[in-house]
Amino acid sequence: MSQKSDFGLIGLAVMGQNLVLNVESRGFQVSVFNRTTATTDEFIAKHPGKKLVGAKTLEEFVQSLATPRKIQIMVKSNAVKDSDRDAVDAVIEQLIPLLEKDDIVIDGGNSYYLTTERRDKYLAEKGLRFIGAGVSGGEEGARKGPSIMPGGPASTWEVMKPIFESISAKVDGEPCVIHIGTGGAGHYVKMIHNGIEYGDMQLICEAYNIFKNAGFTTDEIAKVFTDWNDGDMQSYLIQITGKALEQKDPETGTPIVELIVDKAGQKGTGQWTLLNAAENAVVISTINAAVEARILSSKKKARVAASKELTGPTVNITTDKAELVQKVHDALYASKVISYAQGLDLIKTMGEAKNWGLDLGRIASIWRGGCIIRARFLNKITDAYRENAELSNLMLAPFFKDLLSKTQQNWREVVSLATLNGIPVPAFSASLGYYDSYRAERLPANLLQAQRDFFGAHTYERTDKPEGEFFHTEWPEVIG
Ligand code: 6PG
Repeated sequence: MSQKSDFGLIGLAVMGQNLVLNVESRGFQVSVFNRTTATTDEFIAKHPGKKLVGAKTLEEFVQSLATPRKIQIMVKSNAVKDSDRDAVDAVIEQLIPLLEKDDIVIDGGNSYYLTTERRDKYLAEKGLRFIGAGVSGGEEGARKGPSIMPGGPASTWEVMKPIFESISAKVDGEPCVIHIGTGGAGHYVKMIHNGIEYGDMQLICEAYNIFKNAGFTTDEIAKVFTDWNDGDMQSYLIQITGKALEQKDPETGTPIVELIVDKAGQKGTGQWTLLNAAENAVVISTINAAVEARILSSKKKARVAASKELTGPTVNITTDKAELVQKVHDALYASKVISYAQGLDLIKTMGEAKNWGLDLGRIASIWRGGCIIRARFLNKITDAYRENAELSNLMLAPFFKDLLSKTQQNWREVVSLATLNGIPVPAFSASLGYYDSYRAERLPANLLQAQRDFFGAHTYERTDKPEGEFFHTEWPEVIG
C-alpha cells in the first residue's frame, strides 16, 4: 500500500487484533506491529483485502503512518509504583527516537493511572502527545464497538475524536466515548469501572448461590437470569450469566459452570480500586467485598480444610421459588445501586482532588454501551446527574431513593435468609450495611470517641456544645 496509514497499533494480542479490525472496518487504513513478526504475518494473511499494513520493524511501522502519527499501544502493563517500568514503557522508549513533534501515543491497556500521569508528563517533555485510554468491552467489544475512556489534554482528544467516536459503541446514536479529563483521568475512570464490574459480578454470584442452595437446578437459574435480562436489571453481565449457566459440557452433558473450579482470578484493577478508596477515605464496601470474595475463593485448600472443622447451620430454605426469585431480584438491584453509588462517590472525590472536572452523568452515559458493565439502569444514573450535577450521593436521587425504599424489605429478608442458612453474602450485606449506616442520623461513634479519649486523650465533641469545641474527660484508671 503506497498511501500512509491513518492509525497504527502495537501489540497483536486478542484485544489488539480486534481493535485493528474495528478501526479498519470504519474506513481507516491501519498499520500494525508486533514484537513477534510471525504474529503480524499471520494476522495480515488471515485478513486479505483489508486496508492493513504489517510492519516487520518499528522503523517501518512508524514510517508507514501519516503525521501527526496516531499510535495505540496494546500491551500488558503492570507498573504500579513510580519507579516501576513495564512493557508499555519499553515500547515508548523504542518509539521516542522514531517519532516527530506532536505525534500521538495512546496507551489502550489497563494501566495504573499514576503511570499514565508519569508517561503523559514524560512524553510532553519530548514534544510528543499522550493519551491514556481505558478500553472496555472484551474481545467482542473491541471488534464491534467498545466503550472508550480517554484521558489527556483536550486538544489531543480533539485530534483523536473522529477515530474514537467512529470505533466506539453507540447508544441512541451517541458514541460511548467522551474526553474524560486530563492526565490519568481516563485510566482512573476505567479502573473504577473495573471495580464496579467486580461488584456486579460478585452480586450476581451471590444470587446464583442462594438459588443453588434453595434447590434450583442450573437450568432454572439460567432462566431466572434470562428473564431478568428482559426487565429493569437488563445488563450485559446478567445476559452472559444466563447464557453461561445454559451451556452444557459436550463430554458429560453437565452444565459447564458446575464443572468449573470455584477459584477466581484477578489481574489487579479491583485491588487498585480498594487502595485508592482507602487513600481517599471513601467507602466502597460492596467492591471491597467483591475483591475479598475473590481472594477467599482462591484459598480453596484452606476452605476445604475449614469446611471439615468449622460448623454452620443446615441449609433449609422453604420459600416458594417464584417468591424467592422476586426477593433476590430486589436484593440484587438494591445492592447494585449501592455499589454504583460508592464507585461514583470515589470518582467524584478523586475528580475534585485532582481537578479533573469530571462529569459523572456523561461518564455513566458512555458506560451504557460497549463496556462490561453496560446496563439499562445507567440511563437512570445519567438522568440523575443531569437533573442535579451536584448530587452528593446517587442514593439520594429521586429514582434511586424510591427504588431503595421499595426493594429494601426483600433485600433485608434475603440477607437474613442467607445469613440464617450460613450462605455467604458478603456483597449483599456490605451494601445493606452501607445503606443503613449512611441513613443513620446517629451512629455508635459516640462510644468510639469515648474509647479513644479513654485510652489516648484524643478528645471529643459534645452534642450540647458548638461544633469544633473539643473536650476531654478524666476517665477512671483500670490498670491496678
Ligand atoms: C473490560 C474488562 C477488562 C479486564 C478484565 C480483567 O472492561 O473489558 O474490565 O478490561 O481486563 O475483565 O479483569 P480481572 O481482574 O477479572 O482479570
